[in-house]
Amino acid sequence: MQTLFITGGAGFIGSALIRLLIAESGWRIVNIDKLTYAGNLESLGAAGHDQRHIFSQTDICDRAALDALFAAHRPAGVIHMAAESHVDRSIHGPGDFIYTNITGTYTLLEAARAYWSCLNEPGRTSFRFHHISTDEVFGSLGPAGMFSEETAYDPRSPYSSSKAASDHLVRAWQHTYGLPTLVTNCSNNYGPFQFPEKLIPLMILNALAGKPLPIYGKGDNIRDWLHVDDHARALRLVFERGIPGATYCIGGCNECTNMEVVDTLCTLLDQQQPRADGKSYLTLKTFVADRPGHDRRYAIDAGKIARELGWTPRETFESGIGKTVAWYLANGEWIAHVQSGAYRQWVETNYGARQ
Ligand code: NAD
Ligand code: DAU
Repeated sequence: MQTLFITGGAGFIGSALIRLLIAESGWRIVNIDKLTYAGNLESLGAAGHDQRHIFSQTDICDRAALDALFAAHRPAGVIHMAAESHVDRSIHGPGDFIYTNITGTYTLLEAARAYWSCLNEPGRTSFRFHHISTDEVFGSLGPAGMFSEETAYDPRSPYSSSKAASDHLVRAWQHTYGLPTLVTNCSNNYGPFQFPEKLIPLMILNALAGKPLPIYGKGDNIRDWLHVDDHARALRLVFERGIPGATYCIGGCNECTNMEVVDTLCTLLDQQQPRADGKSYLTLKTFVADRPGHDRRYAIDAGKIARELGWTPRETFESGIGKTVAWYLANGEWIAHVQSGAYRQWVETNYGARQ
């Protein structure tokens, strides 16, 4: 049984990938996560208790801890998605983004390189360091065009700048040292277990609580939405079959304005859980000050991963968003634990001594 390191596996996308890999692959997974406010082991569900899932509460900036993990588990590769991920938080406090996204990626690259350089030839050749990045590194689009693997970097927020820096480091380690790396740049994800600071879960939970639905600016900024399980399937394909040194753009081909997203959520909630007062959730929509430096439009051309690896998303936005609203309505316990902060104690109860 081969071992795979996944960093950030207690986060939204990391937990989706681990659920997928435990269900559908033979990988033994070492989940390396610091458990910041965004890390929640409850999101792993049954996969978190599988014998092939080993959790280590570790900061990716801790070189000694990473070296010990590499020596103990001898992985065949790393999928790196630990990051500070929320743009608004990066505007209010960029420091954690520089620390984790840049210094953390550098520290992990160096630990991986030290381990990889001592492997035998077949081990060095088959090793993969897969870095998970974002379409935000490409900047902001006008009304036409799409981002692709050829698009020049033009990040504009502290978050996207820190992710761009980490992408450059990963490619430099491939070019300079020969570390076999892969980079994927994905569009906006949505789905179950997303921390309710991001647009879709925030709007669902605010609506259910009868709170205002804060729409930045005019609500006409555009994002390209992808269901998190489709992203997880793409990541598995790239990790297992991608060409070392290559970049793959991943997107849903589901462009929507923020207003369209909020209107869709309100309509689905009106159908699935009508308000007691008979009013529509649409009445909660509230325009608020715009995000500083708010990127106008993102859209991904996912043609390369479709042509070369045969990946296409299974969910349309229509199918995926309906299931997502139903999931939040059916998973009150997960939501209550996130809102009360109880999820932060869960690791003590369920994992006891840390590895
Ligand atoms: P998330 O915020 O839900 O999860 C991040 C995880 O990283 C958490 O579990 C957190 O505890 C962990 N972490 C943070 N700092 C750490 C550190 N110093 N050491 C170890 N662990 C640490 O993020 P997400 O939405 O799941 O995003 C995962 C990755 O995918 C990120 O790299 C992000 O940039 C990228 N991405 C996200 C999206 C999206 O729409 N959410 C889209 C494209 C790319
Ligand atoms: O494009 C990929 C990126 O998508 C990822 O790299 C990031 O990690 C992820 O957080 C996401 O970034 P965004 O800034 O696009 O996502 P967010 O959910 O924060 O916002 C989506 C859009 O909704 C954006 O245009 C801002 C707007 N918005 C957001 C919030 C939280 C609102 O209008 N109101 C809100 O309350």
